[in-house]
Amino acid sequence: MKRVFSGVQPTGNIHIGNYLGALKQFVELQEDHECIYCIVDEHAITVPQDPKELREHILDVAALYMAIGVDPKKSIIFVQSQVSQHAELGWVLCCNCYTGELSRMTQFKAKSGGNESVGTGLLTYPVLMAADILLYDTDVVPVGNDQKQHIELTRDIAIRVNNKYGKTFVVPEGRFMKEGARIMALDDPEAKMSKSAENIHSRISLLDEDSKIKKSIMRATTDSDGEFRFDPVQKPGVSNLLNIYSAFSGVSVDEILAGQNWRGYGDLKKELVAVTQEALAPIKKNYEEIRHSEELIRVLNDGAERATAIAQPVMQRVRDKFGLGLGR
Ligand code: AMP
Ligand code: TRP
Repeated sequence: MKRVFSGVQPTGNIHIGNYLGALKQFVELQEDHECIYCIVDEHAITVPQDPKELREHILDVAALYMAIGVDPKKSIIFVQSQVSQHAELGWVLCCNCYTGELSRMTQFKAKSGGNESVGTGLLTYPVLMAADILLYDTDVVPVGNDQKQHIELTRDIAIRVNNKYGKTFVVPEGRFMKEGARIMALDDPEAKMSKSAENIHSRISLLDEDSKIKKSIMRATTDSDGEFRFDPVQKPGVSNLLNIYSAFSGVSVDEILAGQNWRGYGDLKKELVAVTQEALAPIKKNYEEIRHSEELIRVLNDGAERATAIAQPVMQRVRDKFGLGLGR
């Protein structure tokens, strides 16, 4: 069985873009892969965090993993900082990565842009991500398209170390969702739906109440030609709504368009409200049951133990290859 690893940062507002773009495939993959899903709290502190809120968000994301259907009997769910080998391997990989490579990363440029005092962690963020992946001899990494560059860097580092020290790491492959899974902001369909946009109606969070879902969709930006057509360039707003409709319902956009008898965009929106509310209802219900349960803590502690059992021998292999410590 191929091994899968992925991670999500513990920040609030996990939205339908995160879900349809990345998280949904976590659930599908666990049927025929050995899956390891991480809550990457050490990545979160590359930007300032409130300690109390961070702890809460770790549990929020863990509960969301389970609420969408990641099954701890099939998959490992754990918190990055509970397995100290991530930071340890991160350091070793930093010593095998060039500052030039890191300063060229798009995400670094975006997050550091215009800022006078940029944290070193923001620069080395992708090296820690490479460590996360390589620590588990990972074959496949399911992520959104925006992580492509980081996966390329991970592969480069793995190949570089293998060439220099002999076969040390499995070289992983990224697994990206189709372009169609890029969900755009409801108020501005030219921009990606994001956690941080100021307007809460730009996104639908997985835990939004039905009334909020309705409000956000009903006021979504469309256009004035009144045609029902999938055309992300000419009609980004309508196309985004159709895309979300298709992703939640499992019906293709062509089929949706062929079967509709809408009189205006309002009818499309009303249907999409119902489809979205229906898709999120079970997630919200599961979340409420799990979020404050003892089971959640048990799952995470058990996950950390199982993750450590895989990470430890890989880290020892790295120490041996590099000549670190005293050996055995
Ligand atoms: P982040 O918000 O950066 O923590 O993203 C978590 C995951 O969701 C990553 O794999 C992203 O690629 C994916 N993602 C974030 N925003 C979107 C979006 N608007 N559409 C599709 N995927 C997204
Ligand atoms: N950088 C990823 C994101 O922002 C999160 C992440 C950290 C990750 N470590 C990872 C994803 C390892 C996949 C594998 O979405």
